Amino acid sequence: MTSLAIISLFVVTILAIEAKIILRHLGPPPDDAPNRKATRAPVWQTISQRVDHFNPRDTRIWAMRYISNDQFFEAGGPIFIYLGGEWQISTSSLTTGQIFDIAEQHKGYMFYTEHRYYGYSYPTVNMSTENLKYLSLDQAIADVAYFIQYVKANIEGLANSKVVVIGGSYSASMATWIRFKYPHLVNVGYASSAPVRAVADFYEYYEVTDHNIGLVSQQCLDTIAEGISQLEVRLEAEGGITEMSERLYTCTTIQNIEPFRSFLFNIAIAEIFAGLVQYAGPTSIQDDCDQLLGYSGDSLDKLIEYIRAYYGNDCIDDYDEFISQYSAVENTNDAWRPWLYQTCTEYGYYQTTTSNYQPFGDTFALDFFVNMCTDLFGQDFGNQILDTGIIRTNIFYGSLTPEITKVVSVHGTVDPWHALGILEDLNPLAPAILINGTSHCADLSSIRDTDPPQLAAAKRRVQELVAEWLA
Ligand SMILES: *[C@@H]1O[C@H](CO)[C@@H](O)[C@H](O)[C@H]1NC(C)=O
Ligand SMILES: *[C@@H]1O[C@H](CO)[C@@H](O)[C@H](O)[C@H]1NC(C)=O
Repeated sequence: MTSLAIISLFVVTILAIEAKIILRHLGPPPDDAPNRKATRAPVWQTISQRVDHFNPRDTRIWAMRYISNDQFFEAGGPIFIYLGGEWQISTSSLTTGQIFDIAEQHKGYMFYTEHRYYGYSYPTVNMSTENLKYLSLDQAIADVAYFIQYVKANIEGLANSKVVVIGGSYSASMATWIRFKYPHLVNVGYASSAPVRAVADFYEYYEVTDHNIGLVSQQCLDTIAEGISQLEVRLEAEGGITEMSERLYTCTTIQNIEPFRSFLFNIAIAEIFAGLVQYAGPTSIQDDCDQLLGYSGDSLDKLIEYIRAYYGNDCIDDYDEFISQYSAVENTNDAWRPWLYQTCTEYGYYQTTTSNYQPFGDTFALDFFVNMCTDLFGQDFGNQILDTGIIRTNIFYGSLTPEITKVVSVHGTVDPWHALGILEDLNPLAPAILINGTSHCADLSSIRDTDPPQLAAAKRRVQELVAEWLA
């Protein structure tokens, strides 16, 4: 008893000095369903890819990781490729979930490819800005094109197989775009929560967040908004900075000037609510609102308690620490440096407080994110590269109106990303499904008894469409 108490005290002391930037998880939520039917452990392999698919004089190669599972496969059956996006691949997506279930229905061969610069798939020895020029959508989908060619040529029984690409979140955009760009290699696309429209100021993100918190509890939304506004006032008041630094437990004293201020309101605070809504299960928003409203005191007191509960024993880091952490060029499986590079050069997607219909006042504007690009990647990276890249992405890949067939686009109304997605049928062979009341990539898990009826129906509809298009 006594020794246990001492041990926990010790642990708390160690944790208490740890600084923390807790960043929102990227990509689809991890699938938490049990491995129901997997009878075989998926196999890890690598394939050689060129560093630069677009320069014939550059012959350098690197090893891209992928996972395969052939437990359902019968010769001639289709190929199902789950596309890795801005995260590290793992075997669970080939042992459970919607992709696994669909592969079973068609006796298909399952693969999961890792996106260059994420996980442990590194085209270059480090992620210096110079080397990151090989991180682009064009290169990444060319990797997949070569991958398809390779498995068809090298695995017995696949030579004439049809190919289905599946993606979640950014990799769902990739699924749409691969089918669009390489229709001779890919027969069917299934895009779960694809943000296909690139845009610098993605102010709609926090509008959707606001709307969905408000649907659950207007009082909760009002408390967040009022707490934020009280925090802004406190930071201007005599002694307020010291008091708020202590109560929020920031690692360094708050600097109420840019970019520190935007960082505090955005990365340290608003991101908690973004994560809550983006990965909301059926009761998570309600549960967190109950928690927030259950604290005593005024709105600011409640908000601070809620934020502190989220960080646990960790202090809240500041902008300088963030930049220093993500300026490090060593290859690592932390997705934030490569993902921020992609946003700075191809997509934007910056979730600002430009709109009035969100609870965070006007505490983080587009400039904050653009300046972050400069601080992370150098002077060249700013508005011009961002704007050029966004226009290029939309021109090359068709934004909300790509000319595609046999691609299904699925979104949930709770998911803030649906605002950048294809929400209406483009044509009879490019249908859109908008699920009322679910969030990011909810349709990628297996059909379950606990699914709301409209979610189960959407999953079944996807299965029917894939079957139709493979027939
Ligand atoms: C990154 O890698 C390049 C080679 O691609 C090398 O020249 C450079 O020194 C490395 N940078 C750092 C900071 O390690
Ligand atoms: C979505 O669901 C909510 C609550 O379940 C309901 O009130 C609303 O009418 C639904 N919207 C549509 C378009 O079906």
